[in-house]
Amino acid sequence: MTQPGFRFSGVGSVLPDKVVTNDDLAKTMDTSDEWIRERTGIGERRLGGTTSGLAADAARLAMERANVGPDDIDQLLLATTTPDYMLPGTAPAVAEILGLDCGAIDIQAACSGWVYGLVMANGFLLQGEKRILVVGAETLERMTDYTDRGTGILFGNGAGAAVVEPGPGEILGWDLGADGKYVKILWAEHGENMSMDGKEVFRQAVTAIQRSANAALDRAGLTTDDIDFVIPHQANIRIVEAAWKRLGFTMEQTGMRLEETGNTSAASIPLTLDKVLDEGRISDGDTVMLIGFGAGMTWATTIMRWSGDDRAAA
Ligand code: COA
Repeated sequence: MTQPGFRFSGVGSVLPDKVVTNDDLAKTMDTSDEWIRERTGIGERRLGGTTSGLAADAARLAMERANVGPDDIDQLLLATTTPDYMLPGTAPAVAEILGLDCGAIDIQAACSGWVYGLVMANGFLLQGEKRILVVGAETLERMTDYTDRGTGILFGNGAGAAVVEPGPGEILGWDLGADGKYVKILWAEHGENMSMDGKEVFRQAVTAIQRSANAALDRAGLTTDDIDFVIPHQANIRIVEAAWKRLGFTMEQTGMRLEETGNTSAASIPLTLDKVLDEGRISDGDTVMLIGFGAGMTWATTIMRWSGDDRAAA
């Protein structure tokens, strides 16, 4: 099969309006702005909205930037761990809001979901489809107890989306993985808030990032020195720093949006990608690595020769 290439023709993201600062949280739990910033890198998070509404808003921005309409989209892949309903998936509702007439499915791989979606989108392109809409959207507020200082400081809502199509870029290497031994370190029973063993999640996350990044580099035949820019899942700045120490990446080559958003699970990488593109920090031809990791445990990495979203239609 020939490689059709992989181009981000448009990227977009949205955050709901309600800002909850660390000082706001300190009114309902025994914590402080200083502690949260120092231990996580988070300054505030956004609450409100629905998963389908945020997903559709982010998708619209991505489609505008890509200069495409609803008829141009061949598949909708929606990564979310906070669907609007137990049944059905949220993707059909998003497709309805956007006026799409195509396949529409949810991907539940927690914080790794959007990067899983990119690899799946590449598969659709290899099968001849022309444009795939890959969305990550979350309303983590639904399963977060904002009076529990172990979890309530970390999570927020948001959405990011990309339209991908064949083009001069390509996915040079990738890695997808899961280890179900760790289900019960970060999970939520039906109708309940999430529970987490924070220390164990921290440890396993650092290991997963390292393992997945190295597996994707091996597949691409590259080393960390070949990587120009990296966007990790935005969970905790200290997780990123610990993993970077082992991998040899620097914070200067790293995209971060954690301070403004908190952990938005499947939405975090496209939210950060949108910011990085606004800042003009990625250019055509750059070698860009995206690394997702999260509950499951799951992990997902792509290494791309970057092409796309020059913000032309913005
Ligand atoms: N505010 C103030 N103090 C807090 C606190 C908070 N929100 N949470 C814990 N503490 C206290 C503890 O009670 C403890 O006090 P003690 O030393 O007097 O007993 C101290 O701070 C250290 O607690 P600890 O649990 O060791 O903190 P930590 O450094 O492990 O940080 C997390 C806790 C949750 C921030 C951290 O474990 C973490 O980020 N884990 C990964 C979670 C994650 O990213 N999940 C999503 C993955 S996709």
